[in-house]
Amino acid sequence: MYGLVNKAVEELVVSNFGEEKWELIKTKAGVDVDVFISNDGYPDEITYKLVGAAVEVLGIPAEQILIAFGEHWVLQTAAKSYGPMMKAGGDTLRDFLVNLPNFHSRVAMIYPHLQPPRFECTDVTEDGLHLHYHTHRPGLTAFVTGLLQGLGKYYHTPCTSEVIARKEEGAAHDVFAVRWNS
Ligand code: HEM
Repeated sequence: MYGLVNKAVEELVVSNFGEEKWELIKTKAGVDVDVFISNDGYPDEITYKLVGAAVEVLGIPAEQILIAFGEHWVLQTAAKSYGPMMKAGGDTLRDFLVNLPNFHSRVAMIYPHLQPPRFECTDVTEDGLHLHYHTHRPGLTAFVTGLLQGLGKYYHTPCTSEVIARKEEGAAHDVFAVRWNS
């Protein structure tokens, strides 16, 4: 994954737990990188090792870390560094989610080697939809839950999401039932 992902993990850890914990996490993960470069590609394994080491060093379950990371990604990384791109995604949570299937194709203009997830929306109503999440990467369901939580906050729209199908449990892919107050 592009370095900006690992940089965002670093920011999340450092802002909540301090520089020392981050150094401990990198050592435990066996990751010998001083500074992650946003535009450089790194093996996915590095990101997984960092999250795994964070679970051990911070004593927080992986699911909770991934949810926090999803929120941080939307509210800090995306909102602050990619504001115009987020704005172009839509004026409401509903619009943003309906447009989400096309979102990473714009991201790929900046990051040409992007290997993005694929999203699909079905069952769209005024106050909810089903979001289908396709990826070749395992274990990121809770990250998407956190992203959805972050988007609800970004749009000041209280929302809930429930995983109604899980790839981990044999489904073809993960499906989230998202609902919001319209
Ligand atoms: C401007 C905002 C965003 C940028 C710049 C961005 C960029 C990226 C990048 C660089 C990756 C790593 C993939 C790679 O390097 O090959 C990624 C992965 C991912 N993105 Fe985005 N993204 C943004 C917003 C979003 C939003 C709003 C969502 C969903 C609600 C989302 C969902 C994901 C997921 C789930 C992954 C994990 C990879 C996977 O599932 O295979 N992203 N994105």
